[in-house]
Amino acid sequence: MTPSAARTELVTLLQMAYSGERAAAYAYLGHRRSLWRAKRGADRAMLAGVLVDEIRHRRIVRRMLRLLDAGADERRERRMRRIGLTIAAFCRVGGWYAPMYGAGRLERGNIVEYEVAARLAHLAGHDELVDELLELAEVEWDHEHLFRTAASTHPLWRLSPKWPETTPRATIRSAFDEFLAGREPEPALRWNPLR
Ligand SMILES: [Fe+2]
Ligand SMILES: [Fe+2]
Repeated sequence: MTPSAARTELVTLLQMAYSGERAAAYAYLGHRRSLWRAKRGADRAMLAGVLVDEIRHRRIVRRMLRLLDAGADERRERRMRRIGLTIAAFCRVGGWYAPMYGAGRLERGNIVEYEVAARLAHLAGHDELVDELLELAEVEWDHEHLFRTAASTHPLWRLSPKWPETTPRATIRSAFDEFLAGREPEPALRWNPLR
């Protein structure tokens, strides 16, 4: 892949991530509110922490887009706002389990998204972005772990289709090193949702 093709894909992927963080922030606000009545203080505290992370992620990704002389994709922004608000509304009626399960599933995708972005940044000649992108992937790994752990305490978990398990957190960095060395065991770029 040429550096300029990698840059184009990176911009598109970061625009997706940027708007995705917006949807996540709206959704988690609704999710957190839905836990009010159930008196689930620990879950609410967890959601508050995740929400703060997503807002911070959006700031970081916006800065990266600016550095690449790009901005948000306004159509995607509107679409993801709608999706976020719809999920938030669903959380009010969806009970405890479905929002936890759905969040875990979404977060699983976010890990890969930032891992792919780190590889594209390298291929585009923007190695200064790599460390922060891997850190974003690590935080999404933490989120997936929180939601999976929460959802798995529910009786419905046994009956629900599972998303692919994550590998240990440290493999986010070690897989990237393997990628740099040209020996990536799991060719993450193949997962690229843009293809
Ligand atoms: Fe995030
Ligand atoms: Fe997240």
